[in-house]
Amino acid sequence: MKEINVAVTGGAGQIAYSLLPRLVSGETFGSDTKVNLRLIEIPQVVDKLQGTIMELIDCGFEQTGKLIATSDIKEGVKDADWVLLVGSIPRGIVIDGKKIEERSDLLKINGGIFTDQGAAIGELAKSDAKVLVVGNPANTNALIGMNKANNSSQQWFAMTALDANRAKAQLAEKAGVEISSLKNMVIWGNHSPTMYPDPYNATIDGQSAAEVINDSRWLEDDYLPLVQQRGKAVIDARGASSAASAANAAIDTVKSVINPTEEGDCFSAAVVSDGSYGVPEGLIFGFPLQTTQEGKIEIIQGIELNDFAKAKIKITTEELESERQAVADLIS
Ligand code: NAD
Ligand code: LMR
Repeated sequence: MKEINVAVTGGAGQIAYSLLPRLVSGETFGSDTKVNLRLIEIPQVVDKLQGTIMELIDCGFEQTGKLIATSDIKEGVKDADWVLLVGSIPRGIVIDGKKIEERSDLLKINGGIFTDQGAAIGELAKSDAKVLVVGNPANTNALIGMNKANNSSQQWFAMTALDANRAKAQLAEKAGVEISSLKNMVIWGNHSPTMYPDPYNATIDGQSAAEVINDSRWLEDDYLPLVQQRGKAVIDARGASSAASAANAAIDTVKSVINPTEEGDCFSAAVVSDGSYGVPEGLIFGFPLQTTQEGKIEIIQGIELNDFAKAKIKITTEELESERQAVADLIS
């Protein structure tokens, strides 16, 4: 069996609880790959991970390798092939008597976590390591981490796959089709209420989803805010931020990165902008991506954007620019 090292921060959190068994079961990295898992937590919580490790052992998966719990980020990410940065505070909680309402309000609280973690990854993870940031605000946390890592052979992603899955599910329901009919779902920009889930370029059995649905009022006035605000709706209903669906989206992202993308499809994640589609270089921005047969991750070019899309992409770009300014001291 092949062996890989996977590090997960926030190992005792609620997303991790859904995520970890699926990382070591053969489902994500393949039945021929043993996964050594490093679970990373803050010192106050790290002992709890022994319980998680017992449960992972008790699952009895033959792909489960060595399981380690640590509060030392350097030990956790050393020689890592994949690092999943989940550990951080979710919104919806009350801090100093004030409820955290928006993901961007987490910037000051969570941003600092990603400086040391980024530096450790840049120095110690494998030279071709892949890093997926789940902790919010995911795009700008990834920006901080990637800059501190300062290692261009590693590749950083911020998670927008949950938004893409939500966006597909809503279109499939409206159109009365199976979700498998939906392809090319692009989440442009930030994992925030300014994201643009693009129904014009998404396809249902090869035809534009917007054309199939043929109801621009619903698409623009109902569908868009529904997808953009889905995270908040889950928090309001559940009293905690999405966990099972977030873990599922993290698994989807890893699979999309390590397996070639099907012809005529794409996957959604935020990566560093190279200026594609006029997005300022250096921002961590949600783009249409594909993994080539050779395993290279590319931003798909040539997607046509109508005026509605351009206006929405401008808004989310401006938000990411202002987040970048807000953390200027952390990325310099
Ligand atoms: P949680 O509070 O249940 O768990 C977070 C865990 O992270 C805690 O156990 C905490 O001790 C740990 N942690 C905090 N700081 C850490 C550090 N420096 N190093 C290691 N671990 C640390 O939260 P959750 O529900 O698992 O959510 C985690 C994050 O994911 C939140 O920021 C949430 O907003 C975000 N999230 C993102 C998406 C997305 O689509 N990108 C979706 C859902 C949730
Ligand atoms: C989500 O989209 O469910 C997460 O980002 C959690 C949140 O704060 O909305």
